Amino acid sequence: MQQLHSDLWIADSPLRFVGLEIGARMTVVRLPGPKLLLHSPVAATAELVREVEALGPVSYIVAPNRFHHLFAGEWSQACPEASVYVAPGLAEKRPDLEISGVLTDEPEPGWAGTIDQVLVSGFPLANEVVFYHRPSTTLIATDLAFNIGSSSAPLTRLVFRLSRAYGRLSPTLLERLFVRDRSAFRRSLERILEWPFERVVVAHGEVSEVGGREELERGYAWILGGVRAT
Ligand SMILES: [Fe+2]
Repeated sequence: MQQLHSDLWIADSPLRFVGLEIGARMTVVRLPGPKLLLHSPVAATAELVREVEALGPVSYIVAPNRFHHLFAGEWSQACPEASVYVAPGLAEKRPDLEISGVLTDEPEPGWAGTIDQVLVSGFPLANEVVFYHRPSTTLIATDLAFNIGSSSAPLTRLVFRLSRAYGRLSPTLLERLFVRDRSAFRRSLERILEWPFERVVVAHGEVSEVGGREELERGYAWILGGVRAT
């Protein structure tokens, strides 16, 4: 794992999607207690479970959108005391998971003191919930943007260069094609952009340490419109 802040870590894992190596990232937040929140879990290898548990007990396992749920069950088995929270739509998709709650626009009481959240509306394909970790002023997103850069595989770099989404936080074609309610999506984005974050952690590509807010705003200019009141 890589530590980004005194209470924030990431763990990266290989992942192929439609033939491209895009990788996947889990984010680990240490809440007071300490209690750990696992965001978008990657495979629960024995080594990673040991490394995570060395930081504290896992209390929450979060599947933050309709795509990032594959390893929630593995972690739930490895950490049976943890509660599983999922994006809307996943309870139906994953009846095998023992779910404690469905994520909403309001943070759960267990983490509300440290983390804020927004359910991105108007894009039911993903139903992504985006988080803001206040102590580190970090935005924790999943597929809201990709950040494919020099550390990615050559073919992945090429594809993202061709689609003009290389080297910065950028939405993918999925948002372009499948946002169903633009004004609802825009309102959610505007709420996200109200948070004073600098660092952005996404599930695919690099962590954006500085300027992430501006990059995200630029990437979504097509939906935010030209001028935003700030
Ligand atoms: Fe993803």
